[in-house]
This record gives sequence, structure tokens and C-alpha cells, in this order.
Amino acid sequence: MDRVPTGIAGLDSLIEGGFPKGYNVLVTGAPGTGKSIMGLQYIYSGALKGENGLYITIDSPRMQLIEQAGRFGWDFKKMEENGKITFLSIPPNRARIDIFDMLEDKVAEANAKRLVFDNLALLTINAEQFAIPMAHNSKMDVIPNITSKSTMLNTDTKDYEIALNAEFDNKGRAFYHGDSKRRITYFVIHELGCLGTTNLIITFADPTTQSSMDKVSEFACDGVISLKSLAIGDTMNRTIEVKKMRTTALNGGIKSYDFGNDGIILSQG
Ligand SMILES: Nc1ncnc2c1ncn2[C@@H]1O[C@H](COP(=O)(O)OP(=O)(O)OP(=O)(O)O)[C@@H](O)[C@H]1O
Ligand SMILES: [Mg+2]
Repeated sequence: MDRVPTGIAGLDSLIEGGFPKGYNVLVTGAPGTGKSIMGLQYIYSGALKGENGLYITIDSPRMQLIEQAGRFGWDFKKMEENGKITFLSIPPNRARIDIFDMLEDKVAEANAKRLVFDNLALLTINAEQFAIPMAHNSKMDVIPNITSKSTMLNTDTKDYEIALNAEFDNKGRAFYHGDSKRRITYFVIHELGCLGTTNLIITFADPTTQSSMDKVSEFACDGVISLKSLAIGDTMNRTIEVKKMRTTALNGGIKSYDFGNDGIILSQG
């Protein structure tokens, strides 16, 4: 199996050399744990080796990410000029389906092999605004052969709510305005997994459970890395744990990490 080295010092040796190629790897953590820095490091280290990267940000402005990267000596502006790194900023209120119509083209344009999605929680916070395709709704089975709202309403469906909430886009695809964050999360992860890139997907951790807020990303992604920080006295204790990496023998346990001159670095041992 091909592995994609992460560029995070000390991480690859825990996961047989890197992320399995084409996988979705979730990075969870509270604010300020270094999720975006990890994403930037992953993208930059790839670009240095000639693997192009696409950094999708809903969370942070592009310039802020470039400045953050600059603190570690990573010249994202130059990589952008050379076409090795592409930023895609998505305003939080953009409808989900637009993103995925655009993403395939963006990945091709950028010739991206690595992708960072920053972040999933912000996308699903706006779940009420999104429409997701009927094809991804299991209830679709009860209302087949529908091509418009009126045929849908006339269909002998037992689930009127679906019909009433359905809409059709200009490509004739049916959508359901659902309220399920989990369903949207699952859909987004699935779509990202179809792009052919190796993906680092960032999401917030619930402060009490330390899991993703949607409670489904961990199951839907192929790998899960958890970042935690705890201030004890004057010191910030930061820990990283690879909780899951499909098809990989984990050299596991909880490790310490810190921000060094070259980005995130895991402690030995
Ligand atoms: N050069 C540096 N040296 C040490 N620590 C740094 C440096 N640059 C940033 N940090 C620390 O990293 C943290 C920010 O990292 P990052 O932006 O990746 O967090 P995040 O997990 O993405 O947060 P959020 O959830 O708010 O987006 C800050 O809290 C800051 O203290
Ligand atoms: Mg961030």
C-alpha cells in the first residue's frame, strides 16, 4: 500500500510511514491545539516533494494561514505562485452542493494529491441551510422515479415530509432539505473520499467528550488523530493520539507534541 508521509516530525513512525494513499484522516481538537498548523505542515511538506496540495478553508482567512505558516518558515506565497499549493476559501454560508460541484474541478486544476479541509464542524454548523441529494437519503427508496416536485407530491409516498422539503436544482437533481448534521457530515466525508486525494479533515472536538461534535466523523473517516492541550501551571501540555488508521498497525499510545521552529514535532518515546 502506498503511504503519504505527513511531514509531521515523529508521526509517520507511528503509522507505518504515513497516511494510506487516498484515505480520509480526521484531525480533532479543541481551539488552539494546532489543527490548522498540522494541515499547513502536511500540505507544505508535500509541496516540497512535488506533491501539489489544496487547502480548503471555511475557518481562517487565507492571509492568516499564510502568516501562520510563515512563522515556521513555510513560504506559501511562493508555493502558490509556483502552482504547488492552492487555497480555496469558502464563505460559511455557501450551499454544500456548490462546494462539491466545484471541488472536483479545483482538485484537477490544482493537480492536488493532498487536500486539507478546514473545517468540517463549521460546514455542518450551517446544516439547516444545506440541501443534500436525495440519492444519499435512504428514504429515497420509497419515492422512486421522481423528476420534479409535482410528480413527487403526486407520488404515493408515505413520507410527505420528504416530498414537501424536496427541491430540484438546474441539473435535475433532487435534494432534500434535511436537518441531520450527521447525514451531511457523512455525505461530505464520502464526497471528499471520492476526489482521489489523500485528505486531512479538520474538525472541532467537543470539550467534554473530546470526540467530534457530530459524533459520526470518527466512524466515517479512515483515520482519526486527536490533539489535546492542557495547561498545568505555566506549562501547556499537548498530547497527540492516533486513534484509528485503517489497514495500519498502529505504533500507538499517547505522545507529547509541541510547536518547534519547523512546526509540530512529536516527542520521542
Ligand atoms: N510559532 C509558534 N510557536 C509556538 N506556538 C505557536 C506558534 N504559532 C502558533 N502557535 C500556537 O498554535 C495555536 C494555533 O494553532 P492552530 O491555528 O493550528 O490551532 P487550531 O487547532 O487550528 O485552532 P482553531 O480551532 O481555533 O482553528 C495557537 O494557540 C498558538 O499558541
Ligand atoms: Mg484552525
